[in-house]
Amino acid sequence: MFGVCYYPEHWPESQWPSDAQRMTELGLTYVRVAEFAWSRLEPEPERFEFGWLDRAIETLQAAGLKVVMCTPTATPPRWLIGRYPDVLPIDPDSGRPRDFGSRRHYDFSSPSYRREALRITRVVADRYGEHAAVVGWQTDNELCCHDTTMSASPAALAGFREWCRQRYGSIEALNRAWGNVFWSMEYSNFDDIGLPFGAVTETSPAHGLAYRRYCSDTVVAFHADMVAEIRARAPGRFVTHNFIPAEDTGVDDFAVAAPLDFASYDNYPLGRTDLKFADADAEEFRRYMRKGHPDFASFLLDQARGLRGPGLWVMEQQPGPVNWADSNPRPAPGMIRLWSLEAIAHGADVVSYFRWRQAPFAQEQMHAGLRRPDDSPSAAWPEVTRTIADARRLSDHLVTGARPPVAIVTGAEGHWLADLEKQSRFYRFDDVSLSFYRALRQLGVDVDFVSANGPFDDYQLIVCPCLPIVPEGFTQACVASSAHWVFGPRSGSKDDDFCIPHELAPGALQSLLSVRVLSVETLRPDVRETLAFNGEAFDCGLWCEELEAPDCEVVATYADGAAAAVRNDRFTYLGVLGSIEFLTAFFEAQCEAVGVETVRLDNDLRIARRGDLVFAFNYADVPKTAPASASADFLLGEAKIPPNDVAVWLAE
Ligand code: GAL
Repeated sequence: MFGVCYYPEHWPESQWPSDAQRMTELGLTYVRVAEFAWSRLEPEPERFEFGWLDRAIETLQAAGLKVVMCTPTATPPRWLIGRYPDVLPIDPDSGRPRDFGSRRHYDFSSPSYRREALRITRVVADRYGEHAAVVGWQTDNELCCHDTTMSASPAALAGFREWCRQRYGSIEALNRAWGNVFWSMEYSNFDDIGLPFGAVTETSPAHGLAYRRYCSDTVVAFHADMVAEIRARAPGRFVTHNFIPAEDTGVDDFAVAAPLDFASYDNYPLGRTDLKFADADAEEFRRYMRKGHPDFASFLLDQARGLRGPGLWVMEQQPGPVNWADSNPRPAPGMIRLWSLEAIAHGADVVSYFRWRQAPFAQEQMHAGLRRPDDSPSAAWPEVTRTIADARRLSDHLVTGARPPVAIVTGAEGHWLADLEKQSRFYRFDDVSLSFYRALRQLGVDVDFVSANGPFDDYQLIVCPCLPIVPEGFTQACVASSAHWVFGPRSGSKDDDFCIPHELAPGALQSLLSVRVLSVETLRPDVRETLAFNGEAFDCGLWCEELEAPDCEVVATYADGAAAAVRNDRFTYLGVLGSIEFLTAFFEAQCEAVGVETVRLDNDLRIARRGDLVFAFNYADVPKTAPASASADFLLGEAKIPPNDVAVWLAE
């Protein structure tokens, strides 16, 4: 099903009925409203104006549409900032308040903000919780976006000190855990503790890790309280949140998602590709420029689906050029349909476009919508029309919740590790994770993302690109599962307080395979070394570990013959970051060993399975042939897929 993000407060009321009528005619089901409307809902303290929203909802309802209501908490109004200046976060770099005048100008640690945000949540939920047209709720908007997870406010400092007190019990224990003897960093009591910002050079990574954990816990607790307020007033309605990529939140998104019914994701393939591949050379980038990287949108969609699977919505789908990347090209013709069907193939039950009409004013004037500011249909319109017709043909087959054979383990600690201890400024957790994902996708393998707490049942192969801190009970769960496991470099390299484990890396994983990391070197990404695997030579570099594993089978070796990857039974440890070609060859062999079917795909062709459907997406500028049998029953398209197009057939 399909939806749209609509801001009735941006348009004259006289336009609402025709908007609603056109939404219905287009085939939309859901309309998300009121996301940033706090100043219109409560123009002065405790003076509420619900009339306009009541009428907007009635108009949508009369046209047969269902409403997704939002808490307006991402945009505290000016009067609230005047009353409670401590709502504003303090920028860790400059030490200045991040001021009113845009959005997300709130500090998760501020007691005033939390009180006020939960108050307006209750007021809105009291009003609309049982409204017949309101079928579900979105909390806030893109929590943590615009780098708002961390603040250097007095409230954050007080909260952090208290968090440290709870965690460590005594200041001696904290000093020991953080290694504070190292540069005479010892504290005498918890009130000595500062925030890990503004020091002359790096602070202890344990200090940084503790602060990130505090911030994450604070976001999680705030969000859980908001969900509870909604649930108490909106019986039977779903509650979701529109997540951004994990790399940008810096918090434990699995924990944020825990109280939700399902996760939603905001899918902007071009904006995301532009930022991610900013360093790619121009010729390599050109082919992604108007289409997005063929693995990047799905990488982010699969991660979002994993947060609270099964079930996923795309709450915001890019409909044309955005306004926020370094460059903002137009999507190539066909791509809005391709991305929408791709989201469905990767589990989306609803695709909702952002936004109904392009705004002629304020910050996002250059961001496309389904309609232009003059209300003429934009280039997206015919593509959405066609997508909705396509999805109707597939609807009987769109099951939710089937598990693919392979899972990738992910989590905030991988991001934190890469951030807190660079060792190579080119090592990025997300890039490592993406390279493993790309190799599997190149082989046509569908992938789930799970947390280090599972679930692990039903997977044949589970891959941890980097699990730096091995949680309690994890190795027992590995043994109890029947899966084969692959661990990437830096896994098990830290204990819970960011120290090298006394038995050396990979620490607790040594109960699965007896390997010790004796030393690590990091190399410039443009200086490549050689890796031998299965009689072939591949590129490697960036991160290379010296391994000692006398009792393990050697899977791959460096140029000098030393072990680069080792295995014991179902457990494999990679001590090196290899090229995509290496990872593809490696996973091809792994998949064969565990009975997961693979097919080597062209770089610009991707397949995804959902229920008994197989989708193929052609990102190339030339036709491609779907890897379907001659007798395949096509529900969309045919074996020869035109550029920027999609084919769907029934699995045999
Ligand atoms: C999203 C955000 C929307 C809008 C959109 C523009 O990140 O949730 O409010 O700003 O980006 O692409």
